[in-house]
Amino acid sequence: MPKIKIRKMAAADQRQWLEMRRTLWPDCPKERHLLEVDQLLRSEGLVLFAEGADGRSLGFAEISIRRDHVEGTCSVPVPYLEGWYVDPGHRNQGVGRALIDAAEKWALEAGFTELASDAEIGNDEGIRAHQKLGFREVGRSVHFVRPLRALSAGIRKQNRNIPTSNQRL
Ligand SMILES: CC(C)(COP(=O)(O)OP(=O)(O)OC[C@H]1O[C@@H](n2cnc3c(N)ncnc32)[C@H](O)[C@@H]1OP(=O)(O)O)[C@@H](O)C(=O)NCCC(=O)NCCS
Repeated sequence: MPKIKIRKMAAADQRQWLEMRRTLWPDCPKERHLLEVDQLLRSEGLVLFAEGADGRSLGFAEISIRRDHVEGTCSVPVPYLEGWYVDPGHRNQGVGRALIDAAEKWALEAGFTELASDAEIGNDEGIRAHQKLGFREVGRSVHFVRPLRALSAGIRKQNRNIPTSNQRL
């Protein structure tokens, strides 16, 4: 395993963090990255950095605190691994495990009893790495969002065609 240090992300690391995020999620627009970075920095969660002996960033782990129910968990609030990334040239050498160990230590000290996470369907490597580190699969899902304005407009349109009870009589 390379000589690495796991530490909390500092303000000066933000550019490198963003670069790694863009490598991990290349399809995510820059504005979305900036929004998520901002949300994470304002949250009570934690961003951990793995740093090599030369000070180079090797990876990161983002942990948020989710306050709504999280699939498969028994506790609320629960720490949630939002992002977990190791530079491709440094994978399979224990860096990812060191990040999760540090996240676990932080979460236990903060009084939490579980760490939840997800991986995209099809990310077999990510799924296997989770399993190796003691994460248990609790379900698979596809997420949806529908803008409420469009939804309510649609419902209004539908309702125009529904006869009132008076009309039915
Ligand atoms: C997932 C990821 C962070 C793991 O980082 P890593 O530094 O390679 O992990 P480690 O070397 O510490 O390995 C941790 C465990 O997972 C296992 N593992 C890692 N990659 C694996 C793979 N591709 N297939 C099977 N097992 C794997 C290791 O064998 C190890 O288990 P062990 O200690 O019992 O041998 C890294 O592969 C990555 O950045 N992947 C792309 C991003 C991603 O998919 N993130 C997860 C979803 S957000």
